[in-house]
Amino acid sequence: MRVALAGIGVVGGGVVRLLEANRDLIARRAGRAIEIVAVSARDRHKDRGIDLSPYRWEDDMDAIVAADDVDVVVEMIGGADGSALTLARRALGAGKALVTANKAMIAHHGLDLARLAEEQDTPLKYEAAVAGGIPVIKAIREGASANEIARVYGILNGTCNYILTQMERNGASFADALAAAQAEGYAEADPTFDVDGIDAAHKLSILAALCFGTRLDIGAVTANGIRGLIAADIREAEALGHRVRLIGMAERDGRGLYQHVQPCLVPADHPLAYVPGALNAVVAEGNFVGRLFFEGAGAGAGPTASAIVADIIDIARDEYGPAFAMPVDALDAAPAADAGARVGKHYVRLIVEDRIGVLAEIATAMRDAGVSIESFIQRGTDGGDGDADDRVVIALVTHDGPASAIHSALAILAASDHVVGTPMHMPILAL
Ligand SMILES: NC(=O)c1ccc[n+]([C@@H]2O[C@H](COP(=O)([O-])OP(=O)(O)OC[C@H]3O[C@@H](n4cnc5c(N)ncnc54)[C@H](OP(=O)(O)O)[C@@H]3O)[C@@H](O)[C@H]2O)c1
Repeated sequence: MRVALAGIGVVGGGVVRLLEANRDLIARRAGRAIEIVAVSARDRHKDRGIDLSPYRWEDDMDAIVAADDVDVVVEMIGGADGSALTLARRALGAGKALVTANKAMIAHHGLDLARLAEEQDTPLKYEAAVAGGIPVIKAIREGASANEIARVYGILNGTCNYILTQMERNGASFADALAAAQAEGYAEADPTFDVDGIDAAHKLSILAALCFGTRLDIGAVTANGIRGLIAADIREAEALGHRVRLIGMAERDGRGLYQHVQPCLVPADHPLAYVPGALNAVVAEGNFVGRLFFEGAGAGAGPTASAIVADIIDIARDEYGPAFAMPVDALDAAPAADAGARVGKHYVRLIVEDRIGVLAEIATAMRDAGVSIESFIQRGTDGGDGDADDRVVIALVTHDGPASAIHSALAILAASDHVVGTPMHMPILAL
């Protein structure tokens, strides 16, 4: 089977290396040889640390699509739109199989691309787009396909998990942990997509469509990232027997589909609390199989290439089906659930001026918003991200109640002259 690789960056380079290193084994498993016939990227003369001379270089993506000797196009360019999307549409439109690592493109255009693939009766595969090397798409699409899945959640961004575990281990501030992640190559110079939860939202929307048989809808996913966390949040979570993790969670019930990425307190004895560094993990709860837990590398050249080449092998074996496990017309449109109506305990942290009456003001705001407080902790410093001694950190845990009540309480407190900065609030997951 003849493949063309579009984009020879981190992931594309990994795919070249893997196909070369495991060539014979892959041929035996796939039932035929997998041959790279063409490669393409922006700059032909760039040193990529790999020998591309055996392969035909194409400057023009259209030439890849038009080539008679290309069976599978592997898109590893990136970006929701632009060249990646143009290539994907043209490749599928020409009846070629498409493999992609591009979560942004699948999250935004997955339904259209899946429909095009169906019309052309050609595969669209995207294992590498969700949780990198973890074969979670295949596991849910195939291994767990007999189950009704009510809930899928997990750690979908390795950069954020690295930052959070740095804060946990070293007591580092968010800024210092981010700088460490950048120094280690885990975070981009512009970390927005990762730390603001956008990347995790892309992956969550794909998982939700696959797990619930719903139409992919990235617009319905809400995302809060980890920028607002301070060292004190990590310490208080630990004191409460929890760890802070950026969790993408999708849940479907009679009221609709809930899809949210946000930092949460995870019980210290839940497997997600043990996921260290830049790893990813996904939990899916099936009505017959029970809880499934997947953990592994969510990024990096090797793990991502592993997922891409597995997709290529499936295509070589002629083992593929509809991209979202059922035809696009069979997917239904679930209404978005009211996130504010979700009931649970919450952690709320405020930095306040150390003045008489401030605690009463917080208690009054909580009472007026209908929030019942279970515990209240005051520490004498501003939480480790500065040393203003006229400020204190207040951390409180609520009784079970709707998230909307917390939002109301924080809206009242936002008007207070004594509250400094933006308060942090996180659901305390009961998993
Ligand atoms: N990196 C990971 O660990 C990882 C994990 C999972 C999924 N992904 C996804 O995999 C995809 C690729 O990521 P990456 O990290 O490999 O990115 P990357 O290192 O930046 O590589 C991108 C490649 O695409 C080429 N390219 C960019 N714009 C192009 C254009 N307009 N026309 C033709 N070629 C173009 C670049 O060419 P030049 O080299 O000539 O500049 C480069 O070879 C993305 O969708 C990403 O989300 C990445």
